[in-house]
Amino acid sequence: MCSVDPNVDAGGDGHVRTIGVVGTGVIGAGWAVRALARGHDVVAWDPAPGAAERLRSAVARAWPSALRLGLFPGADPSRITWVDTVEELAARVDWIQENAPEDEDVKRPLMRTLAAHSAPEVVIASSSSGLLPTRLQDGCRHPERILIGHPFNPVYLLPLVEVVAGGQTSQAAMDAAVAHYDDLVMYPLVVRTEIEGYLSDRLQEALWREVLHLVNDGVATTRELDDAVSYGPGLRWAGMGTNLTFHLAGGEGGMRHMLSQFGPALKLPWTKLVAPELTDGLIEAMAEGCEAQADGRSVEELERLRDDYLIGVMRSLRPLDLGAGRLIAEREARIHEASGVTAWAAGDPVSAPLALYEAPVEPDWVDYNGHMSEWAFLTAFGWASDKLFRYIGIDEGYRADGHSLFTVETHLNYVKEASLGDPLRFTTQVLGVDAKRLHFFHAMEHAGTGELLCTTEQVLLHVATATGATAPILPGPAAALAAISAAHADLPVPPQVGRVMGLT
Ligand SMILES: NC(=O)c1ccc[n+]([C@@H]2O[C@H](COP(=O)([O-])OP(=O)(O)OC[C@H]3O[C@@H](n4cnc5c(N)ncnc54)[C@H](O)[C@@H]3O)[C@@H](O)[C@H]2O)c1
Repeated sequence: MCSVDPNVDAGGDGHVRTIGVVGTGVIGAGWAVRALARGHDVVAWDPAPGAAERLRSAVARAWPSALRLGLFPGADPSRITWVDTVEELAARVDWIQENAPEDEDVKRPLMRTLAAHSAPEVVIASSSSGLLPTRLQDGCRHPERILIGHPFNPVYLLPLVEVVAGGQTSQAAMDAAVAHYDDLVMYPLVVRTEIEGYLSDRLQEALWREVLHLVNDGVATTRELDDAVSYGPGLRWAGMGTNLTFHLAGGEGGMRHMLSQFGPALKLPWTKLVAPELTDGLIEAMAEGCEAQADGRSVEELERLRDDYLIGVMRSLRPLDLGAGRLIAEREARIHEASGVTAWAAGDPVSAPLALYEAPVEPDWVDYNGHMSEWAFLTAFGWASDKLFRYIGIDEGYRADGHSLFTVETHLNYVKEASLGDPLRFTTQVLGVDAKRLHFFHAMEHAGTGELLCTTEQVLLHVATATGATAPILPGPAAALAAISAAHADLPVPPQVGRVMGLT
């Protein structure tokens, strides 16, 4: 009988959870960052000498990426407690994520120890890449709360986590796992049938086996094979996966035509699937190939590059509501909700000017000089406007009901350059509002020095999105804007407002 309560919200109520991270290598450190960015506490243990220090530096390296993805209130990289024994960890935490090496002989006794020393309601999830949960839970105390939560590297950025039940895992524990990973703004994919390698690693490994054969047979180098992915199919996979992509490859006839055209090729011996022997020669060819591709860049440098492009890809999918892009929007909405910057309610005092948004200068905002590009200032102001909209009650729900604000005129004044990572602070002044129009001004300052960097003055129209015609602002936002406008009435008009461009 399971004591895990599926109705307990795994932290979504704002209750701070303590996550136990067992084994703090690549994956354990990634889990630590994801939990810390969510505002949780982490208790960590790893038997290797120097592991505590390595974890702290791994967290420090990953933190800028976590920051770019968005931190929840309370997120703090120093909220890690290192313990000396696995028993102490098990006794102190609300959730256990096990990340020891992929070896059943290591994981099975470890699972038994974790189960023996943790409260029965604590779920123990293994990050295993392919071991069967039935075997990991065998002989454990309260085996019904043991399952697989298989993430992808880097765990702090990639949302997928495969959740796999063993023969003794309860539905309640599975529900708790889905809720927990959802709370970490991940994409929990329940693998309905317990199989070795689960889903993603089966797919990845099929490709990897083929890579090993092609290198082993001298057909191609590691670089050529990576080019064969990253310039083509890899770009498609992020948004649509393999099957929907091939559906389109079949033209109007979709997958049916695709199978009739390319089905016969499936009978040809294109792929081998059984991996080649890992001879010294093959290991050398693989390692030397990758070192040549790295071209002197350290793993740390390549990690930064990978994190930057992963964030870029996920952000580009966001407006299309595709794949991981959905979770970028979801994370932002949840952070906004959790940060307590609630929409204005009747009677709330209004600050003059408003200060609703802060952000660092992002890597994709800077040009070859390391300075913020001219278009990026407008992007950043767009986020400041989004905060204003949320504050007045114009959010996903308002837009889904068919109304939105459209910008019709923008003036930007560039005052001083901003560099990568500079902390930015935005203030907002409402200059005027009527039934259908809004006129406001944002100022962007360096949050450290207080220097003014850029300003924008904008006029927006309130629109019924179904018709594209202007429409009166609905009562809630209209009341909020009236209150803000009244509170800002005595603010001096900034000198950049109403300026006309010219050479005189
Ligand atoms: N690397 C990946 O891309 C990836 C992705 C998903 C899942 N995983 C899975 O995550 C787990 C960890 O993989 P990793 O890549 O982080 O490996 P890693 O080698 O980077 O880290 C493993 C850590 O476990 C520690 N360790 C050794 N014995 C231990 C024990 N008895 N108890 C606790 N910790 C112990 C080691 O000191 C090391 O710090 C594996 O099950 C792996 O299959 C890895």
